[in-house]
Amino acid sequence: MKSHLMLPGPTPVPERVLSAMSRPMINHRGEEFAGLFREVTAGLQYVFQTEEEPVVLPAAGTGGLEAAVVNTLSPGDRVLALVTGAFGERFAAIARAFGAQVEVLAAPAGRAVDLEALRAWLEQDLERPAAERFRAVLATHNETSTGVTNPVEAIAPMVSRHGALLLVDAVSSLGAIDLPFDRLGLDVVVTGSQKALMCPPGLAVLALSQRAWQAADTARAPRFYFDLRSYRKGAAKAQTPYTPALSLLYGLRESLAMIREEGLEEGFRRHALLGRMTRAGIQALGLDLLADARHASATVTAVVSPTSIDLKELRRHARVVSGVTLAGGQGDLADSIFRIGHLGHVGPADVLVALAAVGDALTAQGRAGAAGPDQAVAAAVRVLNEERGRKA
Ligand SMILES: Cc1ncc(COP(=O)(O)O)c(C=O)c1O
Repeated sequence: MKSHLMLPGPTPVPERVLSAMSRPMINHRGEEFAGLFREVTAGLQYVFQTEEEPVVLPAAGTGGLEAAVVNTLSPGDRVLALVTGAFGERFAAIARAFGAQVEVLAAPAGRAVDLEALRAWLEQDLERPAAERFRAVLATHNETSTGVTNPVEAIAPMVSRHGALLLVDAVSSLGAIDLPFDRLGLDVVVTGSQKALMCPPGLAVLALSQRAWQAADTARAPRFYFDLRSYRKGAAKAQTPYTPALSLLYGLRESLAMIREEGLEEGFRRHALLGRMTRAGIQALGLDLLADARHASATVTAVVSPTSIDLKELRRHARVVSGVTLAGGQGDLADSIFRIGHLGHVGPADVLVALAAVGDALTAQGRAGAAGPDQAVAAAVRVLNEERGRKA
């Protein structure tokens, strides 16, 4: 049976990318590799919307977050972590692991960062002597565990006025939700290959501002493999300091070409549409969304499971009967939500299939009188038609 991977990562890898990855190995110190390196760098500059040269590490996204921390912070540095879910907590935990004094501004599940509270924290912090102020603010652009997109465009100017570095986890958003690195003046942005970049897992990618590179020269957190100065040195010769993940880079070159062909803006519009379709379909089924509607994510939707529903059985039914893989909840949300990923190589038809599968799985649990898959699909198609009307 055909399977539909509707996870917020890993996401489906296009045929073009899969076949690009089957090329033979080459000398990673030779001219051919230098060409590959330059093409990938240029493609990443397009996606990050930056003049800086992003760094590619063979690592999971978490490795990229660790690289962001160890290259900008020193033990004892005060750091403000904006926590809106499990991934915000992880970013904070990494900073703590390397000796930072982490203070947390947390939001309830489903809510975005409270901008007024952030403003107050930062203003109060400015009353301290300069050496004791927050060295960095850690933010999650798209909190995958709750389906919330934080307004980094509003956070960035506040942090910039304060003077702290702004480190952003954009693992589940970069390439799908607009995050212009240079225009927003961000310091570090981290993403992973297995999300909107449409590649298999295994690469972390980071962009650093000039200020962040200066921080890398003075940061005292212990690091070796993730010391980005080695990568910068290698990049001057279009090389990597250690053996690169060649097959993944072949794949990334291809997926970056696909992103260019679609156009970044068009990709943002597609993801926003998929988010709206998903939410309309879920609401037509009478289910609640976890995310505050003003900050609902374009890449992942968290659905509150009614207590009358056996959540494990719902996901099992969708997978076994319809071939649709849905994600569960994480941490405290494990027993109360499921998530639908709609990022990367996905289109409207994939969302319709996922909604039909959820509707069918609910009907199978005998929700008497409730809406079924047909209503969910119809609601999503209405959104699709409205979008078509807008474009025409
Ligand atoms: C927002 C966010 N940050 C970090 C990660 C961690 O990425 P990885 O599992 O590749 O380490 C994920 C993965 O889902 C994520 O969605």
